[in-house]
Amino acid sequence: MKLISAATILALLSLTEAEKTRNLKSKSSKSSKSWSYPKTKSCKDKSSTSATSEADTEYASLKAGSLIDTGDNICAGSKVELPNIPCMVQEIIDEIEMKNVNPNLTVNPNFALGTPEQAGGNVTLGYIGSLDVDSTPILRPYSEEGMCPVNVHWHAGTEHLSQGEYDYDGKGPGVLVEMDDEYRKLAMDGKEIRQGLRCHHYDETDIKFTKEYDWKYCVDMHVGETYEVHWPHSNMGDCGTSNQYQYPFYDGVFCNFNNPKQTDPEKNFQGDLSKAKIGVQAQIFTIVNDEDYYYPNLIDGMIVGGEYGKEMTKYTGSTTGDSRSNEICSQYTGITWQVDRKCHLISASSFDKMCQDMLSQKDDMSSDVYAHGAREIVADHLTADNQYHRKV
Ligand SMILES: *[C@@H]1O[C@H](CO)[C@@H](O)[C@H](O)[C@H]1NC(C)=O
Ligand SMILES: *[C@@H]1O[C@H](CO)[C@@H](O)[C@H](O)[C@H]1NC(C)=O
Repeated sequence: MKLISAATILALLSLTEAEKTRNLKSKSSKSSKSWSYPKTKSCKDKSSTSATSEADTEYASLKAGSLIDTGDNICAGSKVELPNIPCMVQEIIDEIEMKNVNPNLTVNPNFALGTPEQAGGNVTLGYIGSLDVDSTPILRPYSEEGMCPVNVHWHAGTEHLSQGEYDYDGKGPGVLVEMDDEYRKLAMDGKEIRQGLRCHHYDETDIKFTKEYDWKYCVDMHVGETYEVHWPHSNMGDCGTSNQYQYPFYDGVFCNFNNPKQTDPEKNFQGDLSKAKIGVQAQIFTIVNDEDYYYPNLIDGMIVGGEYGKEMTKYTGSTTGDSRSNEICSQYTGITWQVDRKCHLISASSFDKMCQDMLSQKDDMSSDVYAHGAREIVADHLTADNQYHRKV
Protein backbone atom coordinates (compact mmCIF):
# COMPACT_ATOMS: atom_id res chain seq x y z
CA MET A 1 0.00 0.00 0.00
CA LYS A 2 1.30 3.37 -0.95
CA LEU A 3 0.28 6.57 0.70
CA ILE A 4 -0.04 9.47 -1.63
CA SER A 5 1.72 12.62 -0.48
CA ALA A 6 0.73 16.19 -1.04
CA ALA A 7 3.78 16.51 -3.27
CA THR A 8 2.58 13.61 -5.38
CA ILE A 9 -0.83 15.21 -5.73
CA LEU A 10 0.75 18.45 -6.84
CA ALA A 11 2.85 16.50 -9.29
CA LEU A 12 -0.29 14.81 -10.61
CA LEU A 13 -1.96 18.11 -11.08
CA SER A 14 0.96 19.42 -13.06
CA LEU A 15 1.00 16.55 -15.54
CA THR A 16 1.65 17.80 -19.01
CA GLU A 17 -1.25 17.93 -21.43
CA ALA A 18 0.21 15.01 -23.37
CA GLU A 19 0.47 12.85 -20.26
CA LYS A 20 -3.08 13.70 -19.25
CA THR A 21 -4.41 12.79 -22.65
CA ARG A 22 -2.58 9.49 -22.58
CA ASN A 23 -3.69 8.67 -19.05
CA LEU A 24 -7.27 9.62 -19.47
CA LYS A 25 -8.02 7.70 -22.65
CA SER A 26 -10.74 10.14 -23.47
CA LYS A 27 -13.51 8.82 -25.66
CA SER A 28 -14.79 12.28 -26.31
CA SER A 29 -15.41 14.19 -29.48
CA LYS A 30 -16.86 11.59 -31.81
CA SER A 31 -17.06 14.21 -34.51
CA SER A 32 -16.52 17.88 -35.13
CA LYS A 33 -19.91 19.42 -35.63
CA SER A 34 -22.02 22.25 -34.41
CA TRP A 35 -25.56 23.48 -34.80
CA SER A 36 -26.93 26.77 -35.95
CA TYR A 37 -30.38 27.92 -36.90
CA PRO A 38 -31.42 29.11 -40.36
CA LYS A 39 -31.71 32.87 -40.49
CA THR A 40 -34.73 32.69 -42.76
CA LYS A 41 -37.53 31.21 -40.75
CA SER A 42 -38.10 30.89 -37.00
CA CYS A 43 -39.06 33.71 -34.77
CA LYS A 44 -35.51 34.13 -33.64
CA ASP A 45 -34.57 37.05 -35.83
CA LYS A 46 -37.76 38.97 -35.68
CA SER A 47 -38.43 38.49 -32.01
CA SER A 48 -35.31 37.64 -30.11
CA THR A 49 -34.69 41.14 -28.83
CA SER A 50 -38.32 41.93 -28.33
CA ALA A 51 -38.85 38.58 -26.62
CA THR A 52 -36.10 39.47 -24.18
CA SER A 53 -37.38 42.90 -23.39
CA GLU A 54 -40.89 41.52 -23.21
CA ALA A 55 -39.73 38.85 -20.78
CA ASP A 56 -37.84 41.51 -18.81
CA THR A 57 -40.91 43.68 -18.62
CA GLU A 58 -43.08 40.76 -17.58
CA TYR A 59 -40.46 39.81 -15.05
CA ALA A 60 -40.26 43.31 -13.61
CA SER A 61 -44.03 43.49 -13.29
CA LEU A 62 -44.14 40.04 -11.75
CA LYS A 63 -41.63 41.13 -9.13
CA ALA A 64 -43.25 44.48 -8.57
CA GLY A 65 -46.81 43.20 -8.31
CA SER A 66 -46.00 40.06 -6.45
CA LEU A 67 -47.26 39.30 -3.00
CA ILE A 68 -44.44 36.87 -2.32
CA ASP A 69 -42.34 37.18 0.78
CA THR A 70 -39.38 39.36 -0.14
CA GLY A 71 -37.64 38.87 3.19
CA ASP A 72 -34.13 37.53 3.61
CA ASN A 73 -33.18 34.70 1.29
CA ILE A 74 -31.37 32.55 3.85
CA CYS A 75 -29.96 30.26 1.15
CA ALA A 76 -28.09 32.99 -0.76
CA GLY A 77 -24.37 32.26 -0.77
CA SER A 78 -24.76 28.71 0.63
CA LYS A 79 -22.92 27.19 -2.32
CA VAL A 80 -19.92 25.12 -1.22
CA GLU A 81 -17.19 26.04 -3.71
CA LEU A 82 -15.47 23.04 -5.29
CA PRO A 83 -13.59 24.00 -8.44
CA ASN A 84 -13.32 21.65 -11.42
CA ILE A 85 -10.15 19.57 -11.48
CA PRO A 86 -8.35 17.33 -13.94
CA CYS A 87 -10.20 14.00 -14.08
CA MET A 88 -8.78 11.29 -11.92
CA VAL A 89 -5.70 9.38 -12.71
CA GLN A 90 -5.11 5.91 -11.31
CA GLU A 91 -3.31 7.27 -8.22
CA ILE A 92 -6.41 9.16 -7.13
CA ILE A 93 -8.58 6.05 -7.50
CA ASP A 94 -6.01 4.08 -5.53
CA GLU A 95 -6.09 6.63 -2.78
CA ILE A 96 -9.87 6.57 -2.53
CA GLU A 97 -9.74 2.77 -2.36
CA MET A 98 -7.14 2.95 0.41
CA LYS A 99 -9.53 5.18 2.31
CA ASN A 100 -12.02 2.32 2.23
CA VAL A 101 -9.43 -0.04 3.69
CA ASN A 102 -8.31 2.47 6.33
CA PRO A 103 -10.89 5.12 7.10
CA ASN A 104 -8.30 7.10 9.05
CA LEU A 105 -6.56 8.13 5.86
CA THR A 106 -7.31 11.54 4.51
CA VAL A 107 -8.99 11.28 1.15
CA ASN A 108 -7.44 13.21 -1.67
CA PRO A 109 -8.83 16.69 -1.23
CA ASN A 110 -9.17 16.90 -4.98
CA PHE A 111 -12.26 14.76 -4.71
CA ALA A 112 -13.84 16.61 -1.87
CA LEU A 113 -16.80 14.29 -1.52
CA GLY A 114 -14.47 11.28 -1.51
CA THR A 115 -15.69 9.63 -4.67
CA PRO A 116 -14.78 10.34 -8.28
CA GLU A 117 -17.67 9.19 -10.53
CA GLN A 118 -19.04 11.61 -13.12
CA ALA A 119 -22.34 12.28 -14.95
CA GLY A 120 -24.03 12.17 -17.47
CA GLY A 121 -23.28 8.81 -18.90
CA ASN A 122 -24.91 6.13 -20.98
CA VAL A 123 -28.23 5.18 -19.35
CA THR A 124 -29.31 2.57 -21.93
CA LEU A 125 -30.97 -0.48 -20.37
CA GLY A 126 -28.23 -2.92 -19.39
CA TYR A 127 -25.36 -0.42 -19.50
CA ILE A 128 -22.90 -0.62 -16.59
CA GLY A 129 -20.01 1.84 -16.28
CA SER A 130 -16.50 0.56 -15.69
CA LEU A 131 -15.51 2.64 -12.66
CA ASP A 132 -15.65 0.45 -9.54
CA VAL A 133 -17.37 2.52 -6.83
CA ASP A 134 -18.83 1.88 -3.39
CA SER A 135 -21.56 4.49 -3.66
CA THR A 136 -25.14 3.35 -4.17
CA PRO A 137 -27.82 5.52 -5.73
CA ILE A 138 -30.98 6.53 -3.88
CA LEU A 139 -33.57 4.15 -5.35
CA ARG A 140 -36.82 5.50 -3.94
CA PRO A 141 -38.49 8.69 -5.15
CA TYR A 142 -36.72 11.69 -3.60
CA SER A 143 -39.98 12.88 -2.05
CA GLU A 144 -39.90 9.79 0.17
CA GLU A 145 -36.37 10.63 1.33
CA GLY A 146 -37.04 14.07 2.81
CA MET A 147 -35.65 15.76 -0.30
CA CYS A 148 -37.29 18.53 -2.30
CA PRO A 149 -36.55 20.14 -5.67
CA VAL A 150 -34.37 23.21 -5.10
CA ASN A 151 -34.07 24.34 -8.72
CA VAL A 152 -34.97 23.44 -12.28
CA HIS A 153 -32.78 24.10 -15.31
CA TRP A 154 -32.11 22.46 -18.67
CA HIS A 155 -29.42 21.80 -21.21
CA ALA A 156 -29.40 22.28 -24.98
CA GLY A 157 -29.47 18.68 -26.16
CA THR A 158 -28.94 15.79 -23.80
CA GLU A 159 -26.06 15.08 -21.43
CA HIS A 160 -27.13 11.45 -21.09
CA LEU A 161 -27.34 8.84 -23.84
CA SER A 162 -30.16 6.31 -24.23
CA GLN A 163 -29.61 4.22 -27.33
CA GLY A 164 -32.52 4.55 -29.78
CA GLU A 165 -34.13 7.40 -27.77
CA TYR A 166 -31.49 10.13 -27.50
CA ASP A 167 -28.14 9.31 -29.03
CA TYR A 168 -25.69 10.30 -31.77
CA ASP A 169 -28.37 9.75 -34.45
CA GLY A 170 -30.88 12.27 -33.04
CA LYS A 171 -32.24 15.17 -35.10
CA GLY A 172 -33.75 18.63 -34.88
CA PRO A 173 -34.17 21.90 -36.77
CA GLY A 174 -30.69 23.23 -35.99
CA VAL A 175 -28.41 23.04 -39.01
CA LEU A 176 -25.14 21.20 -38.70
CA VAL A 177 -21.97 23.25 -39.28
CA GLU A 178 -18.45 21.95 -39.00
CA MET A 179 -16.45 23.54 -36.21
CA ASP A 180 -13.13 22.95 -34.61
CA ASP A 181 -13.55 20.27 -32.05
CA GLU A 182 -16.98 19.83 -30.56
CA TYR A 183 -20.70 20.18 -31.10
CA ARG A 184 -21.49 23.83 -30.48
CA LYS A 185 -24.33 26.18 -31.06
CA LEU A 186 -24.69 29.90 -30.70
CA ALA A 187 -26.73 31.09 -27.79
CA MET A 188 -28.72 34.26 -28.17
CA ASP A 189 -26.22 36.60 -26.58
CA GLY A 190 -23.54 35.39 -28.98
CA LYS A 191 -21.94 33.17 -26.37
CA GLU A 192 -21.21 29.68 -27.60
CA ILE A 193 -22.58 26.78 -25.64
CA ARG A 194 -22.09 23.13 -26.37
CA GLN A 195 -25.11 21.23 -27.62
CA GLY A 196 -25.64 17.63 -26.53
CA LEU A 197 -27.48 14.76 -28.21
CA ARG A 198 -31.01 14.80 -29.58
CA CYS A 199 -34.09 12.59 -29.78
CA HIS A 200 -35.46 10.89 -32.90
CA HIS A 201 -38.96 12.43 -32.90
CA TYR A 202 -38.27 15.49 -35.09
CA ASP A 203 -40.20 15.44 -38.38
CA GLU A 204 -39.65 18.43 -40.67
CA THR A 205 -42.93 17.68 -42.50
CA ASP A 206 -45.02 17.93 -39.32
CA ILE A 207 -45.93 21.50 -38.36
CA LYS A 208 -45.92 20.78 -34.63
CA PHE A 209 -42.12 20.40 -34.87
CA THR A 210 -41.53 23.39 -37.15
CA LYS A 211 -43.92 26.22 -36.23
CA GLU A 212 -42.06 28.39 -33.72
CA TYR A 213 -43.89 29.22 -30.51
CA ASP A 214 -44.36 32.77 -29.29
CA TRP A 215 -42.15 32.45 -26.22
CA LYS A 216 -42.89 34.94 -23.42
CA TYR A 217 -40.77 33.80 -20.49
CA CYS A 218 -38.18 31.26 -21.66
CA VAL A 219 -35.30 32.70 -23.70
CA ASP A 220 -33.72 31.35 -26.89
CA MET A 221 -35.71 28.11 -26.97
CA HIS A 222 -36.76 26.31 -30.15
CA VAL A 223 -39.70 24.11 -31.13
CA GLY A 224 -38.42 20.79 -32.53
CA GLU A 225 -35.27 20.83 -30.41
CA THR A 226 -34.37 18.45 -27.59
CA TYR A 227 -33.66 19.59 -24.03
CA GLU A 228 -32.60 17.65 -20.96
CA VAL A 229 -34.35 19.02 -17.86
CA HIS A 230 -32.72 18.65 -14.43
CA TRP A 231 -34.41 19.01 -11.07
CA PRO A 232 -31.69 19.00 -8.36
CA HIS A 233 -33.10 17.71 -5.07
CA SER A 234 -31.61 17.91 -1.59
CA ASN A 235 -32.61 17.23 1.99
CA MET A 236 -30.60 20.36 2.89
CA GLY A 237 -32.90 22.56 0.82
CA ASP A 238 -35.18 24.99 2.64
CA CYS A 239 -38.07 22.74 1.68
CA GLY A 240 -41.59 24.10 1.81
CA THR A 241 -40.56 27.75 2.26
CA SER A 242 -40.23 30.64 -0.17
CA ASN A 243 -36.48 29.88 -0.22
CA GLN A 244 -36.91 26.41 -1.70
CA TYR A 245 -36.06 27.30 -5.31
CA GLN A 246 -32.63 28.84 -5.82
CA TYR A 247 -30.23 30.11 -8.46
CA PRO A 248 -27.52 28.92 -8.59
CA PHE A 249 -28.93 25.50 -7.71
CA TYR A 250 -25.95 24.91 -5.39
CA ASP A 251 -27.40 27.52 -3.01
CA GLY A 252 -30.50 25.34 -2.70
CA VAL A 253 -28.63 22.04 -2.50
CA PHE A 254 -26.41 23.29 0.35
CA CYS A 255 -28.83 25.77 1.95
CA ASN A 256 -29.00 24.14 5.39
CA PHE A 257 -25.60 22.44 5.26
CA ASN A 258 -24.02 24.92 7.64
CA ASN A 259 -26.26 27.94 7.74
CA PRO A 260 -25.95 30.51 10.53
CA LYS A 261 -29.24 32.04 9.36
CA GLN A 262 -31.12 28.78 9.85
CA THR A 263 -32.65 29.15 13.29
CA ASP A 264 -34.45 25.79 13.32
CA PRO A 265 -31.87 23.35 14.78
CA GLU A 266 -33.81 20.40 13.30
CA LYS A 267 -33.09 21.74 9.83
CA ASN A 268 -29.46 22.77 10.25
CA PHE A 269 -26.91 20.08 9.31
CA GLN A 270 -24.13 21.98 11.17
CA GLY A 271 -21.63 21.03 8.47
CA ASP A 272 -22.28 17.28 8.77
CA LEU A 273 -22.37 15.88 5.27
CA SER A 274 -22.93 12.29 6.40
CA LYS A 275 -26.72 12.67 6.52
CA ALA A 276 -26.91 14.69 3.33
CA LYS A 277 -28.96 13.36 0.42
CA ILE A 278 -28.46 14.94 -2.97
CA GLY A 279 -30.02 13.73 -6.20
CA VAL A 280 -31.14 14.95 -9.59
CA GLN A 281 -34.15 13.94 -11.66
CA ALA A 282 -33.53 14.09 -15.40
CA GLN A 283 -36.16 13.93 -18.12
CA ILE A 284 -35.62 14.47 -21.83
CA PHE A 285 -38.07 16.26 -24.09
CA THR A 286 -38.50 17.31 -27.68
CA ILE A 287 -40.55 20.50 -27.79
CA VAL A 288 -43.69 20.60 -29.93
CA ASN A 289 -46.07 23.42 -30.77
CA ASP A 290 -49.11 21.36 -29.77
CA GLU A 291 -51.31 21.94 -26.72
CA ASP A 292 -52.15 18.23 -26.50
CA TYR A 293 -48.78 17.91 -24.77
CA TYR A 294 -49.33 20.58 -22.10
CA TYR A 295 -48.14 19.85 -18.54
CA PRO A 296 -48.65 22.83 -16.20
CA ASN A 297 -46.44 21.88 -13.25
CA LEU A 298 -43.00 21.23 -14.69
CA ILE A 299 -41.38 23.35 -11.97
CA ASP A 300 -42.40 20.73 -9.38
CA GLY A 301 -40.34 17.87 -10.76
CA MET A 302 -40.28 15.23 -13.47
CA ILE A 303 -43.56 14.02 -14.90
CA VAL A 304 -44.60 10.61 -13.57
CA GLY A 305 -47.51 8.56 -14.91
CA GLY A 306 -48.18 6.57 -18.07
CA GLU A 307 -45.00 6.44 -20.13
CA TYR A 308 -43.44 9.29 -18.13
CA GLY A 309 -40.95 8.24 -15.46
CA LYS A 310 -41.57 4.57 -16.22
CA GLU A 311 -38.24 3.41 -17.63
CA MET A 312 -35.65 4.80 -15.28
CA THR A 313 -31.91 4.33 -14.82
CA LYS A 314 -30.46 5.25 -11.42
CA TYR A 315 -26.75 5.62 -10.74
CA THR A 316 -24.33 7.91 -8.94
CA GLY A 317 -22.42 10.66 -10.70
CA SER A 318 -21.58 14.34 -10.46
CA THR A 319 -22.84 17.75 -11.44
CA THR A 320 -22.65 18.38 -15.19
CA GLY A 321 -22.53 21.26 -17.69
CA ASP A 322 -20.12 22.19 -20.46
CA SER A 323 -17.35 23.39 -18.15
CA ARG A 324 -16.71 19.69 -17.49
CA SER A 325 -15.52 17.01 -19.88
CA ASN A 326 -13.60 13.74 -19.88
CA GLU A 327 -10.47 15.73 -19.04
CA ILE A 328 -11.87 18.26 -16.56
CA CYS A 329 -14.09 16.77 -13.85
CA SER A 330 -16.60 17.96 -11.27
CA GLN A 331 -15.82 17.46 -7.59
CA TYR A 332 -19.52 17.47 -6.67
CA THR A 333 -19.78 13.70 -6.83
CA GLY A 334 -21.59 10.75 -5.31
CA ILE A 335 -24.83 12.43 -6.34
CA THR A 336 -27.76 10.20 -7.34
CA TRP A 337 -29.13 10.51 -10.85
CA GLN A 338 -32.61 9.20 -11.66
CA VAL A 339 -32.89 9.45 -15.44
CA ASP A 340 -35.89 8.70 -17.68
CA ARG A 341 -34.61 6.58 -20.55
CA LYS A 342 -37.46 7.60 -22.89
CA CYS A 343 -37.62 10.84 -24.83
CA HIS A 344 -41.02 12.51 -24.47
CA LEU A 345 -42.88 15.17 -26.41
CA ILE A 346 -43.90 18.28 -24.50
CA SER A 347 -45.60 21.50 -25.53
CA ALA A 348 -43.62 24.73 -25.73
CA SER A 349 -46.33 26.24 -23.50
CA SER A 350 -45.38 23.78 -20.72
CA PHE A 351 -41.83 25.15 -20.76
CA ASP A 352 -43.03 28.76 -20.94
CA LYS A 353 -45.31 28.17 -17.93
CA MET A 354 -42.33 26.71 -16.05
CA CYS A 355 -40.23 29.79 -16.90
CA GLN A 356 -43.07 32.03 -15.71
CA ASP A 357 -43.20 30.11 -12.43
CA MET A 358 -39.42 30.36 -12.09
CA LEU A 359 -39.52 34.13 -12.56
CA SER A 360 -42.08 34.43 -9.77
CA GLN A 361 -39.80 32.82 -7.16
CA LYS A 362 -38.31 34.92 -4.38
CA ASP A 363 -34.77 34.22 -5.58
CA ASP A 364 -33.83 35.60 -9.00
CA MET A 365 -33.92 32.56 -11.34
CA SER A 366 -33.71 34.59 -14.55
CA SER A 367 -30.32 33.03 -15.40
CA ASP A 368 -31.98 29.61 -15.59
CA VAL A 369 -34.68 30.41 -18.17
CA TYR A 370 -32.07 29.81 -20.91
CA ALA A 371 -30.76 26.42 -22.04
CA HIS A 372 -27.32 25.67 -20.60
CA GLY A 373 -24.48 23.98 -22.49
CA ALA A 374 -24.22 20.19 -22.36
CA ARG A 375 -21.25 18.15 -21.19
CA GLU A 376 -19.91 15.51 -23.57
CA ILE A 377 -21.11 11.99 -22.73
CA VAL A 378 -18.98 10.74 -19.86
CA ALA A 379 -16.47 8.06 -20.83
CA ASP A 380 -16.99 4.52 -19.50
CA HIS A 381 -13.92 4.68 -17.24
CA LEU A 382 -15.36 7.74 -15.43
CA THR A 383 -18.89 6.27 -15.13
CA ALA A 384 -19.87 4.37 -11.96
CA ASP A 385 -20.73 0.67 -12.14
CA ASN A 386 -23.86 0.91 -9.95
CA GLN A 387 -26.73 1.36 -12.46
CA TYR A 388 -30.19 0.22 -11.40
CA HIS A 389 -32.71 -0.04 -14.21
CA ARG A 390 -35.98 0.17 -12.30
CA LYS A 391 -39.11 2.20 -12.11
CA VAL A 392 -39.35 5.13 -9.70
C1 LIG B 1 -8.23 4.68 13.24
O1 LIG B 1 -8.03 5.56 14.34
C2 LIG B 1 -8.65 5.10 15.54
C3 LIG B 1 -8.50 6.20 16.59
O2 LIG B 1 -7.21 6.75 16.56
C4 LIG B 1 -7.98 3.78 15.98
O3 LIG B 1 -8.57 3.30 17.16
C5 LIG B 1 -8.17 2.77 14.85
O4 LIG B 1 -7.50 1.56 15.16
C6 LIG B 1 -7.63 3.32 13.54
N1 LIG B 1 -7.99 2.39 12.46
C7 LIG B 1 -7.08 1.91 11.62
C8 LIG B 1 -7.60 0.94 10.58
O5 LIG B 1 -5.91 2.22 11.62
C1 LIG C 1 -24.62 2.43 -24.37
O1 LIG C 1 -24.89 1.23 -23.67
C2 LIG C 1 -25.49 0.22 -24.47
C3 LIG C 1 -25.85 -0.94 -23.53
O2 LIG C 1 -24.71 -1.38 -22.85
C4 LIG C 1 -24.56 -0.16 -25.60
O3 LIG C 1 -25.17 -1.14 -26.43
C5 LIG C 1 -24.23 1.07 -26.43
O4 LIG C 1 -23.27 0.75 -27.40
C6 LIG C 1 -23.68 2.19 -25.52
N1 LIG C 1 -23.54 3.37 -26.34
C7 LIG C 1 -22.41 4.10 -26.37
C8 LIG C 1 -22.40 5.25 -27.32
O5 LIG C 1 -21.44 3.84 -25.68
